[in-house]
Amino acid sequence: MPFDPLPKTLTDLLDGGARAPLTAVELGCGDGRLLALVRRPGVVCLGLDRLPRAAGSVADIVGDACRPPVRDRSLDVLLAANLVRHLVPSRPGLEFLEAWLGLLKPGGSLVILEDEPTARPAAAANYRDLQAFLARLWPMGRGPLLARSAFLLRVPPQLLPLVADGGVAVNRWPQDARAAVAMLESGSPAAGDAAAGLAAAIGAQGLSCGRQWWCRFTVPVAPN
Ligand SMILES: C[S@@+](CC[C@H](N)C(=O)[O-])C[C@H]1O[C@@H](n2cnc3c(N)ncnc32)[C@H](O)[C@@H]1O
Repeated sequence: MPFDPLPKTLTDLLDGGARAPLTAVELGCGDGRLLALVRRPGVVCLGLDRLPRAAGSVADIVGDACRPPVRDRSLDVLLAANLVRHLVPSRPGLEFLEAWLGLLKPGGSLVILEDEPTARPAAAANYRDLQAFLARLWPMGRGPLLARSAFLLRVPPQLLPLVADGGVAVNRWPQDARAAVAMLESGSPAAGDAAAGLAAAIGAQGLSCGRQWWCRFTVPVAPN
């Protein structure tokens, strides 16, 4: 899901495109909801996804986000939103981070955004549980919500000095509780007690993103 509001560190970065044009890519762009928030005057942001447009993405580039077909040192900004948690099951050491940082120009930024798993309010716990339910159905293809603290523990130690800033905040992006209940009750992707329990909880308490987190890495400007 996209993020509302976008972290200030990201909007400040993107608004800088009005002064000096920025070249950006969003990895795992999906249906383009985040791309729509990111694109603005001075920012050319292409979307990359493993799913082609025929499968419902808005990808300008079809490819594997772990090995993006993008030239090294060619980007000002690289975004990955609600993607890292899908990559963790197959790459728990976050090996792709090194490759991502290699795509950035000196001074460029990699911004990672994810939903933070939370127990309260109940609607946010339902969202966390829904993502965990879906992850159990496709164990190597997607993961449950990934906490910021768990992400930072996985970052290879040599990359930690490149973490420039980050934080956690409320994500007000609306969730469609009715659609989630309908999906769980349809038997597709799976029926069963867990789906029925989750559908009942969402029906009674609602569904909300809860909180979001972000982490910005920057590539140092080469010394003169
Ligand atoms: C939860 S959606 C996020 C969509 C968008 N970034 C957002 O925040 O609204 C995750 C997207 O990542 C894509 N994805 C997952 N693994 C991928 C991979 N290895 N390479 C490219 N895309 C991938 C999926 O196809 C899906 O469109």
